[in-house]
Amino acid sequence: MLSVAILAAGKGTRMESSLPKVLHKISGKSLLQRVINSCVQLKPDQIFIITGHKSKEVEKSIPNDKKIHVVIQEPQSGTGHAIQILCREVKKHEGTLLVLNGDVPLIRPKTLKRLLCLHDSKNADVSLITTKKKNPHGYGRVFLKGDFIEKIVEDKDCNDLERENPLINAGVYCFNWDNLSEIINNLQSNNNQKEIYLTDTVSLLKNSLSLEIEDSGELQGINNRIQLSECEEIIQNSIKEKHMLNGVTFINKASCSISEEAEIGKDVIIEANTHIRGSTKIDSHCIIGPNTFIENSKVGLHCEISNSTVNASQILDNIKIGPYSHIRPNSKISSYSKIGNFVEIKNSQLDEESKVNHLSYIGDSIIGRSTNVGAGTITANFDGQKKYQTKIGKNSSIGANTVFVAPINLGESVTTGAGSVITKDSKNNSLAISRTKQVNIENWKRKKS
Ligand code: UD1
Ligand code: MG
Repeated sequence: MLSVAILAAGKGTRMESSLPKVLHKISGKSLLQRVINSCVQLKPDQIFIITGHKSKEVEKSIPNDKKIHVVIQEPQSGTGHAIQILCREVKKHEGTLLVLNGDVPLIRPKTLKRLLCLHDSKNADVSLITTKKKNPHGYGRVFLKGDFIEKIVEDKDCNDLERENPLINAGVYCFNWDNLSEIINNLQSNNNQKEIYLTDTVSLLKNSLSLEIEDSGELQGINNRIQLSECEEIIQNSIKEKHMLNGVTFINKASCSISEEAEIGKDVIIEANTHIRGSTKIDSHCIIGPNTFIENSKVGLHCEISNSTVNASQILDNIKIGPYSHIRPNSKISSYSKIGNFVEIKNSQLDEESKVNHLSYIGDSIIGRSTNVGAGTITANFDGQKKYQTKIGKNSSIGANTVFVAPINLGESVTTGAGSVITKDSKNNSLAISRTKQVNIENWKRKKS
């Protein structure tokens, strides 16, 4: 039987934040979400999440799963106190209890499996992950005696000699739950922080083992915003390395961010300051950026998108977007189209080879293939209460500065006169024009005052 406890009750004082520490995000997911995702892969029988500080907020972020139970620790008197409460609330202390600090978000399931294997094979009372850090400041130092752990001394309790020890406790523990529950209430708080430390269990249990691993970044704990940003960098570097090895070029890697879910095809060039978020998929041979933000969208082959934002939309093949275009949710831009400077498209479908090149707002519209929308064209889609649709047939030519007062339905091969306010539907092959005729008054002079 495998049970997991995730420690997430602390305030995270060093974050200097009104948000509980475990709800801070790295690469789009909260620290807690990341720890849950890692341990779920071990298929445990039950997961206990210990919450306390702003527990309602933390609870809201926890996915609905009948294996996940919330245990409230009030007040928060230390990591050992959290497990004392767990042992009191849960009556059956069977099998293995894996305890994970909620602020060590990059821990890999593979490493957790290694720890479980060691723990089982040696029949240990407690096994925990350790590593040697160049800068161990802030971590508990682990002292070994022969094959066993003798004690863990927290950074704040170390004397000068103890502080030299580079072997640190990563905050990932495997316990024989039954044996742990025998000693858990013997923990004391006679330390510099006046807290009940979970780390003191290693001295109370007989068979305490250390699994020392090379720190590849996954053991980074987060206590302040510097460490938060270090973890972000660790994740981002590994995501970008994966894409680079798959044939993606980054022009200025450090200025870009890519979500873990993003898929990017071969020979894509990501220019500086480009951010690919959510479950975006970019096909091969695209040039994306500079200064571009794409979220939850699909981009086809051979597209070029620069200085633009694309959100929850579909961009098919061979399309040029930007500079300075904003493609808002639920839009579909079909192949060989062009969306140009200062153009906003929302909830609209543009068929093949259509062009909206300059200074337009196209909302709730369907635009047929090979239609050219002239500069400054606007769909007036909102009457103050409801949104209405604009439909323009294929091969149409929309004059500059046309306003479509929706709902409006134009046929195919329609031309609109520049500056027209179009309020009526028009048939195929027609010219729709609505503007006052120009009057030229000859020899006219301004009156002198
Ligand atoms: C802890 C370890 C330290 C280790 C480091 C690894 C202890 C005493 N020290 O120190 O040896 O090197 O993690 O990152 O455990 N929490 C609760 N209830 C509480 C207090 C904390 O649930 O009453 C939770 C926090 O929300 C956090 C985790 O436990 O997720 C660790 O607490 P934190 O205060 O960050 O401990 P560290 O000082 O980092
Ligand atoms: Mg910590």
